[in-house]
Amino acid sequence: MHMAWTRKHKPQTLKEVIGNKEAIRKLVEWVKAWDKTVPKKRAIFLYGPPGIGKTATVEALAKDFDMELVEKNASDYRTEEAVKRFAGIASQYSTLFGKKRLILFDELDGITGTQDRGGVKALTEIIKITRCPLVLIANNAYDPRFTNLRNYCLLVQFKKPPAGEVVKLLKRICLREGIDAEEEALKFIAQRSRGDVRSAINDLQALAQGKTRLTYEDVSWLAYRDRQENIFTVLKMIVYARSCMSAKQAVDMADVDPDMLFEWIYENVPRHLTHPEDLARAMDALSLADIYRGRIRSTRNWKFTRYFLDFMTAGVAMARQKTKPSGWIPFNFPKRIQALSRSKAQRKFELEIGRKIKRKFHISAYRASKEILPYIRVIFENNVNMAAGIASWLDLDAEMIKYIVSGKQAEAIIKQMEIL
Ligand SMILES: Nc1ncnc2c1ncn2[C@@H]1O[C@H](COP(=O)(O)OP(=O)(O)OP(=O)(O)O)[C@@H](O)[C@H]1O
Ligand SMILES: [Mg+2]
Repeated sequence: MHMAWTRKHKPQTLKEVIGNKEAIRKLVEWVKAWDKTVPKKRAIFLYGPPGIGKTATVEALAKDFDMELVEKNASDYRTEEAVKRFAGIASQYSTLFGKKRLILFDELDGITGTQDRGGVKALTEIIKITRCPLVLIANNAYDPRFTNLRNYCLLVQFKKPPAGEVVKLLKRICLREGIDAEEEALKFIAQRSRGDVRSAINDLQALAQGKTRLTYEDVSWLAYRDRQENIFTVLKMIVYARSCMSAKQAVDMADVDPDMLFEWIYENVPRHLTHPEDLARAMDALSLADIYRGRIRSTRNWKFTRYFLDFMTAGVAMARQKTKPSGWIPFNFPKRIQALSRSKAQRKFELEIGRKIKRKFHISAYRASKEILPYIRVIFENNVNMAAGIASWLDLDAEMIKYIVSGKQAEAIIKQMEIL
């Protein structure tokens, strides 16, 4: 069973929360104050961008202080009546069993203006009289709806943790998962996430789950990829669509091109449609889509695009009939695209060798790598002496020689060059 790494590796104590040390200090100080007397501000309002540990911090705090955490989110306090139901639990600091209580109203901005039927106002009333600490969380505390509410709260801002901290966290997770990861790879993931820790961990899981090594090359191709949230949402809409229509609509949302989308679906369908009959149906749909794709390529007739898209979206969506719903299954990046980008790195190397050849042959590096390199390779494979001569003449380094021919032959050539 798969489990989201954001949940699996959630901080178990405040010490494991990265960044925001000052905010956490204020929060702890305020909670401790409750042991003496009811403080002036009976609620604390944590705010800041998504995925940086606001909720996780409060959960870790409750654990560290052995408090009973009563967690609520938007749906629980849309109306005045709903909020008033909390008045009871808010009236006592200790539970029946002597445990201290902490009440969390999470995702306050989940109640939109029109949906709020007195919820925010009722919440303000509870804050005025509560006998136990209340924590509020929102992305934006300065929403005009909270103007009055703010007066009764201690405001504490959460900021995006620095990339270095995110790298450290990713390292810790890799250690626990038994993944040997290159520092550069983790740095790349951290920087891409721009301080959104949740998305950094999601990326890491998608790239590294089930592996023992993670290299920079494994992740660097992400730079070519469109935003991940989008493709994940779109995939979910296709693979778990309730109707053909919603699957087709997903394509309009996708800002990846159809070929790329095909790769994503192809990669992920087997793990999401686990019943063999469903999988067979989905693969049939994908192969039909592929036939139309081939026809578009050979005839340049774009009218087939519609069929290509229909088969890979609606066709795949309708394949789900017998697969039982299971827990959360992550979506993986398409391996075929990863392979492509690897050959992109190869092409770059070839071009570098081409540049060396260009100097002697006075043709473009591209032509050199396409037209001369194959001959050089044949010579390298068959004649060590001549190869060594050519290699010195072109000024190729050991790495380049090893790229042109592999193994023992390359070593022999390098040795011969030293003698020359
Ligand atoms: N500062 C952090 N330290 C350690 N882990 C973190 C941190 N921030 C986020 N995470 C990881 O990301 C997950 C999501 O974080 P969390 O739910 O706390 O974000 P949030 O700030 O409440 O976001 P939102 O505004 O979307 O609710 C956590 O469960 C944890 O695994
Ligand atoms: Mg949250």
